[in-house]
Amino acid sequence: MAPLANLLGLVTGVLCLFSSPGATYKEKPSVFTFTPGSGGFQLGGPSLAPEIRVSQNDAPGVLRAARDLAADFGRVLGTNGTVVVADWAATIAVKTASRPTILIGTVGQSSLIDGLISSKKLDASAITKKWETFTYQVVPTPWEGRDNVFVIAGSDSRGAVFGIYDIAERIGVSPLHYWADVQPIKRQHIAASTLIHTEGPPSVKYRGIFLNDEAPALTGWGGSNFKRSQYGSPFVSDFYRHIFDLILRLKGNYLWPAMWSSMFYLDDPKNGPLATEYGIFMGTSHHEPMARADKEQGRFLRGSWDWRSNKAGVQSFMQEGATRSKDWSTIYTLGMRGSGDAASATLSSSSLEEIIAWQQQTLTKTLGKPLSEIPQAWVMYKEVPGYWQAGMKVSDDVTLLWSDDNRGNIRRVPIGDEEKRSGGSGMYYHFDYVGDPRNYKWINTIQLTKTWEQMTLTYDSGIRNIWIANVGDLKALELPTVHFMALAWDREAFSGMDSTTEWLKVWSARQFGEDAAGAAAEIMTTYGKLTARHKYEDLSRTPFAFHATNYDEVELNYQEWVDLVAKAQAVYDKLPSAVQDSFFEIVLHPVLAGKTVFEIYSKVTLASRYSTEKRISTNQLAKDVQAAFQADQAITRRFHSLRGGKWNHFMDQTHLGYNNWQEPSSNTIPRASTLTAASSNALLGVAAQGNTAAYPGSARLSLAPVSKFDPPSVNRYIDIFARGDGTFFYDITANVSFVNVTNRRGSISSPAGPTDIRSILGVNWAAAPAGSSSALLTIVNTNATSQSATVVVPLENPTIPSDFKGHVEADATISIEAEHFSPADSSKEYAIIPNYGRTLSGVRLPPRTASQQPGKGPVLVYPFYSFTNIADATVTVYLAPSENANPKSPNRYSVSVDGGAVSTVQVVALTNGSNQPQGWSDAVIRGAYVKSSKVGRIAPGKHELKLYLLEPTMVVTKVVIDFGGVKSSLLGPPESWRSV
Ligand SMILES: *[C@@H]1O[C@H](CO)[C@@H](O)[C@H](O)[C@H]1NC(C)=O
Ligand SMILES: *[C@@H]1O[C@H](CO)[C@@H](O)[C@H](O)[C@H]1NC(C)=O
Ligand SMILES: *[C@@H]1O[C@H](CO)[C@@H](O)[C@H](O)[C@H]1NC(C)=O
Repeated sequence: MAPLANLLGLVTGVLCLFSSPGATYKEKPSVFTFTPGSGGFQLGGPSLAPEIRVSQNDAPGVLRAARDLAADFGRVLGTNGTVVVADWAATIAVKTASRPTILIGTVGQSSLIDGLISSKKLDASAITKKWETFTYQVVPTPWEGRDNVFVIAGSDSRGAVFGIYDIAERIGVSPLHYWADVQPIKRQHIAASTLIHTEGPPSVKYRGIFLNDEAPALTGWGGSNFKRSQYGSPFVSDFYRHIFDLILRLKGNYLWPAMWSSMFYLDDPKNGPLATEYGIFMGTSHHEPMARADKEQGRFLRGSWDWRSNKAGVQSFMQEGATRSKDWSTIYTLGMRGSGDAASATLSSSSLEEIIAWQQQTLTKTLGKPLSEIPQAWVMYKEVPGYWQAGMKVSDDVTLLWSDDNRGNIRRVPIGDEEKRSGGSGMYYHFDYVGDPRNYKWINTIQLTKTWEQMTLTYDSGIRNIWIANVGDLKALELPTVHFMALAWDREAFSGMDSTTEWLKVWSARQFGEDAAGAAAEIMTTYGKLTARHKYEDLSRTPFAFHATNYDEVELNYQEWVDLVAKAQAVYDKLPSAVQDSFFEIVLHPVLAGKTVFEIYSKVTLASRYSTEKRISTNQLAKDVQAAFQADQAITRRFHSLRGGKWNHFMDQTHLGYNNWQEPSSNTIPRASTLTAASSNALLGVAAQGNTAAYPGSARLSLAPVSKFDPPSVNRYIDIFARGDGTFFYDITANVSFVNVTNRRGSISSPAGPTDIRSILGVNWAAAPAGSSSALLTIVNTNATSQSATVVVPLENPTIPSDFKGHVEADATISIEAEHFSPADSSKEYAIIPNYGRTLSGVRLPPRTASQQPGKGPVLVYPFYSFTNIADATVTVYLAPSENANPKSPNRYSVSVDGGAVSTVQVVALTNGSNQPQGWSDAVIRGAYVKSSKVGRIAPGKHELKLYLLEPTMVVTKVVIDFGGVKSSLLGPPESWRSV
């Protein structure tokens, strides 16, 4: 091919809208430019849209997607493209064209593409014979008399389809155009540069989603939008068109259909053939073997769902599944479980071996193909991996489809020879779940960096044949779904540790525009951190997970939500109105709805504390809780009234008041404490931070030690408050000149307010005595001076060597964010995952790192400086709730101080492969394994803590050394002051 730029005088510089220099998310640069006059082959303008030609012989899915592309040009330009079905001879007869021409087709199946290849105008060697690969490019002088055409060629039909939708997305039509109302970007001009764009083959061969737990939301919505099947299901072909469209635009190819009350193949006879026409491989979920829905058993199975007692009935039922689907693209689920999503009481390893062998035989016979050409999966879900672990044998053609623990922690990676199996392995992963310890099926609770960490571990461990995500009702989980599919398509693009954060920016720019992209990405990154701390459904547990007094945990966590809402609302307010709905659906709604749920449980918890302190503002908190409960309903109504009610029912899911794993029948909230205003007027109350005692219950209060080395984020304070109605003035005096307070004088007034005033301490450390001392604050009601409280303020003013670098003790605690190791002293293997976990980030070893011996191998070094002499200090390590993944070698870490005794801790118990490890529930609810061990004496001075992660399947987020001051909390103490 002649150098295109010379022939066409094209500019070769490409306007790269989406990736910034040094970005670690490596997306291929775009071929398309949108500025008139910037050169290239013009494909469209205000009243100019391309003519798209496809060959009659091509796959129906390609012809169908070509029509989508014509409409997508219309969405962007205002003028639809047209589709012409024509062969090569008819096409090259057209010498002059009034409109730009796009040729689309599959190598070996399209006379257009094959014509270009045989006339040496198109070099398809980069894609030929590959799985789902495509190229698109400008082809100059494609035939005599024609200057140029634009060509999309697929190595196979899905490759061509993915090429089409890649272009649609890059010119401005989001894969979420329907599901999240993302508006097409309006263009005045579209041109293609000289770049040859090639993508594929995908990282993972079969990539898809599972619509599950689909009531009440998806089912309710479907019922009001689609004509129900004779069996009552709304999930008919008009519904699935929207699902298939989404999957293909996300470059996926696989679906497990809704099955709670549906039978995909029967609810609409068009469902099966339509999936094949689109190019989607259909599967059935883990307990629905041989392409038959669970719900078909009740109607069509003769006898019981039991291989031992009713082999003939079960076999004929399964045979029918194979027969029905034999001409459609299917990935067959093999094996068998009990009825519904349950273990079977009668199945054994040997009967399962027999079942799978029979199923394989039936498939080869019925489909008339060798097993190697029939995709089959055995889903290693719940109890099933136990059979494998116990030594069960299964033919190599079967993909072992491993799973997570339903909470996003993968249970297994291939070990030993498993990776060599010809069927390979897969991963079934959850973004939604119904079951123990609690459902999570309301809105998005997924931290994308966690998905990245677990799915790169999955991929790098060799699990590359199938990835399928349980996406619940789909809507509200758009973001984790899109991210999962992007990873499955191109894992290499996500090689950087912060690639997900970068991807989120690139992706946000496409949905909401460049101006909002950075903020939208930050908001959803913070959202992921806040939901990683606890899922909404787990918040109703008592006591509340976040501590009401220690480290101000309830208050500070809630404040992060308040700040996040303010940020999201500010972005929303500035957006063009056309973009507001999609921003609301994907960003503002979860933030607002999430904050409201946190507000309810946070304020109920604070009200309980305030009532024991006799704060009259307890009643305001109780009112706020009621208002938040109303707000929750208003947010639901707002969602349901979007776009003329398009998404009615999608927020029907109850989410407040869980008291066991199953959803509550209606939303309820705990009663918040209230107080009866004290009879006497104008009563002073005082509380000291971190202390449950309050004045006047205690006349003398005490603050936790205030140190020169307190964490920079921490304020030390006292609260002055009203215990009854009326107004009084107060005055605070310190007995030393180097301690001062904000709001030293003021008036408290109830009900007018302020009912509570926070007074923050300041210490002039240069003037304070060295070492330990204390100060007294006296708080007087100046209208009734007999009301007087005293607060003791212990002061710690130690010194550290000026050259010390590291964390410094305060409040008999050292708390370290894992990423703040000493880079000079730590092993280079460790990598930081930014925006991971509940506080700052995570640190892990590369997925393929070998298991290490205790106290050996790559080490993280944390220098610290302490002042307390402690005989046997405790080190607590905060880790992600990751599972063992390698059943031969459990997650363990070693820790030691100053080269002393090495203490090695096993984080997760080994299991028989069927059950969850002991302590699992607690870990997934808290979003962390928190493990402690003793490390011996630590004398005051400079030290070094060494931490060894012994497995690559674990991620450390925080390390805490307890000198006697650590208090209980969910997230651990805030990070200590450190010298850098
Ligand atoms: C453009 O295509 C869309 C989708 O097929 C169709 O709904 C619309 O009516 C078309 N517009 C014109 C002007 O033909
Ligand atoms: C309190 O003292 C600190 C340290 O001397 C000083 O920086 C601060 O401005 C003072 N604050 C008030 C409210 O007086
Ligand atoms: C309370 O004291 C303030 C000054 O300390 C005074 O201005 C006010 O009038 C007093 N109020 C009552 C009700 O005594």
